[in-house]
Amino acid sequence: MAKLSKDRLEPDTNDPAYLISYAHHLERQARQLETEKQMVESERLRLQREVNNLKAEIERLRTPPLFMGYVVETLNNKTAIVRSTTGPNLIVTISRQVDISELKPDTRVSLNQRTFAIVRALPPSQDPMVQKMELIEKPLEKYNDIGGLKQQIQEIQETVELPLLKPELFEKIGIEPPNGVLLHGAPGTGKTLLAKAVAHETEAVFIRLIGSELVQKFIGEGARLVREIFEFARQHSPSILFIDELDAIGSRRLDLATSGDREVQRTLMQLLSELDGFDQRGDVKVIAATNRIDILDPALLRPGRFDRIIEIPMPTSESRRDIFNIHLDSMRLSGGLDLDYLTLMTEGATGADIKNICTEAGMFAIRANRDHVINEDFLDAIKKITSEKETAGRNTTGFI
Ligand SMILES: Nc1ncnc2c1ncn2[C@@H]1O[C@H](COP(=O)(O)OP(=O)(O)OP(=O)(O)O)[C@@H](O)[C@H]1O
Ligand SMILES: [Mg+2]
Repeated sequence: MAKLSKDRLEPDTNDPAYLISYAHHLERQARQLETEKQMVESERLRLQREVNNLKAEIERLRTPPLFMGYVVETLNNKTAIVRSTTGPNLIVTISRQVDISELKPDTRVSLNQRTFAIVRALPPSQDPMVQKMELIEKPLEKYNDIGGLKQQIQEIQETVELPLLKPELFEKIGIEPPNGVLLHGAPGTGKTLLAKAVAHETEAVFIRLIGSELVQKFIGEGARLVREIFEFARQHSPSILFIDELDAIGSRRLDLATSGDREVQRTLMQLLSELDGFDQRGDVKVIAATNRIDILDPALLRPGRFDRIIEIPMPTSESRRDIFNIHLDSMRLSGGLDLDYLTLMTEGATGADIKNICTEAGMFAIRANRDHVINEDFLDAIKKITSEKETAGRNTTGFI
């Protein structure tokens, strides 16, 4: 046993019981130290990993940026002409890691910062705009929402719907199915409406490209975007590609004074070449619309680009009546309408004018605190809209 000497416990090193318990104690301590050592070791490994990560991050942050450019053409296995996004065209070296077959004209590539050598071919970009296109919902407009235009609807059904629905009909007879139509006519006559209705009635994917947006929003990118949109349409075929406001990109080439004009010109050339690429077009039907066919580049009107050029005329009196009925359908009326008189009064009005008249008539009713629209409201609306048109200098009297 351990003896006490004054206030300290003196171990009796000869006592076997003490020696055993002391050995146990040391064993426990050794085990504890062993565990601690393992913990420290694993902590060391963890910190080592973190150091490595941070070192790699520093490396990454230090790498100089690469420039981006587009291939104009490859000259041979080692050199190519590229267009950098900011500067002039450059003749550059192609790195040996790059697969030369990937370097088609207009491929995006990354360029070494100093030598501009092509380091890598980049995957084709999908513009947010192109990406969004997939999500385009089916328009709600139906053929029934179109007043008049019966013959035009039939024609578009034959040229756009039929080849998509029954391509075998064309195969059997041995003719090439039509590839596209061009709709033209005065503003507000229902061209956009008609194209949307076609999209609604077929199962095809509907992609809408608006000429003016292409020119305004995607300066310098128009040609590329046209190419990508056709590519997108091919990948998602059967599809209908609707090019609205074609005149914004397809107007006749005048003197190309500004670089903006040349840019539009490049976009048009790309469009023409896509329209010509019939073999690869697959099940992509093109519907284009314009209210300025007179200024379109004649190249667009050449046979083979659009198979049918369909005029969307001003509505006849019968059509105007139909259009009134379509827009009146959802309105709460009272007291009977003199539709004959309204039709007569709107000689020279377009479908859009008639829609406006109905909306305005509703506004008159709201102003008069009524919950229904009466004949008088329509007459007031016609008066208001014709006078607005006169002020705008479009007409001298009425709608004509
Ligand atoms: N034939 C029609 N039947 C019914 N509504 C019509 C008709 N034509 C035009 N409208 C109405 O007018 C609106 C505008 O017409 P739309 O946008 O189709 O004209 P547009 O011919 O494309 O004109 P723009 O040349 O200015 O683009 C339509 O949303 C529709 O409400
Ligand atoms: Mg339109």
